[in-house]
Amino acid sequence: MSSAASSGYVFAPTGTVGGSLAVPGDKSISHRALMLGGIARGTTRINGFLDSADCRATLEALRALGVRVERPGAGEILVSGAGPGGLRASALALDMGNAGTAMRLFMGLLAGQPFDATLVGDESLMRRPMERVAKPLRLMGARIDTEEGHPPVRIHGSTALRAIDYLLPMASAQVKSAILLAGLHANGLTRVTEPAPTRDHTERMLQAFGVELERRGPTVSVRGGQTLRGTVVSVPGDISSAAFFIVAGCLAANAGLTIRGVGVNPTRTGLIDMLRLMGAAIDIKPLLGAGAEPMADITVRAAPLHGVVVPEHLVPLAIDELPVFFIAAACARGETLVTGAAELRVKESDRLAAMAAGLTAVGVQCELLPDGLRIQGGGLRGGRVHSHGDHRVAMAFAIASVRATAPIEVEDVANVGTSFPDFPAAARAIGLKLREQGA
Ligand code: S3P
Repeated sequence: MSSAASSGYVFAPTGTVGGSLAVPGDKSISHRALMLGGIARGTTRINGFLDSADCRATLEALRALGVRVERPGAGEILVSGAGPGGLRASALALDMGNAGTAMRLFMGLLAGQPFDATLVGDESLMRRPMERVAKPLRLMGARIDTEEGHPPVRIHGSTALRAIDYLLPMASAQVKSAILLAGLHANGLTRVTEPAPTRDHTERMLQAFGVELERRGPTVSVRGGQTLRGTVVSVPGDISSAAFFIVAGCLAANAGLTIRGVGVNPTRTGLIDMLRLMGAAIDIKPLLGAGAEPMADITVRAAPLHGVVVPEHLVPLAIDELPVFFIAAACARGETLVTGAAELRVKESDRLAAMAAGLTAVGVQCELLPDGLRIQGGGLRGGRVHSHGDHRVAMAFAIASVRATAPIEVEDVANVGTSFPDFPAAARAIGLKLREQGA
């Protein structure tokens, strides 16, 4: 049974995990490769594309905007770029499903187009904040409406965007990327400064598509009017999916566990730094010949972990991995404190609240803070947790089963398919004892 068809997972306590596996392609990079390929001149070939619900939403939206996208083989995509001025209006609203990245990056991409567009999404996405992107785009001259800050997002056709010099109020790669994409259609030099480093896939990929872009300290600048040239994009394994197995390995891979071909862009590896601070044994073997994004095989071995105060600068570098990091903390000796993570409250769910509720339900003592969690290691037993429709919460609690003393039941797991459609098979491959419950 696939995860998309199951409504719940039941994990029996596992004890030990091991082996070697590859994880599916990176979600952030797959979205970007489609979008940049869609506006480039010429053909873009994407290898290792993540075929998940989120990325399919981006793919279908591009088709609705008139871009030809073919799928010649598994994990392979051919995008016939529309070229400058080549996108056309969609008759229907563009449905982004659960994908915040798709909605926010499309806002930037469409802000400078001469036609109108409406962006909608699923129940979770319709609750997420969009003004953080709409505001800077309006400063550039875009005409965008949100509904009290949320989708539907209505973009009114405008051709004359002007460049801005913008200091991001929060560390957000999505907002940074949306402004840079709009900057491609603006007159002059658009500059974005971030308060802390966030994932730089947009910057790397724009350069791979032939765009001249300057990066100086926390500031990225791009001049409008440049034409992207189609290219080949090799998508590495998603470190956010590998994260679940990295933590499982740290807790229970007595003879080691290897995850092959993982993207190790330094703006994404905060989880590894955080686990190493706790005493984890993680070995990274870089792979040669990767494209714009560095790749490595990651081998982890079980080691005793101790609680830490997580340095706040690591938080944006591990933003999607914090749910499973909290599981590591729940299994460590002593207390772990994470602060500076208020952004977790506006992800696919309020991840601080969802994780605090789940940890309490499985016997772990934790305190919910406005911008983080304080977790007392030890005490993990088992029990029933709710994912709140959030894929990363569901998968995080799957990993708790390696140290649980009773079964862990995870309810509402359909959304695992947004980022990791084959998670159940991968979990079983490393030794998790998973039973899926029907929809
Ligand atoms: C993403 C950026 C992050 C991350 C999200 C993917 C991206 O969001 O949480 O899953 O691809 O740019 P924010 O930019 O909102 O922090």
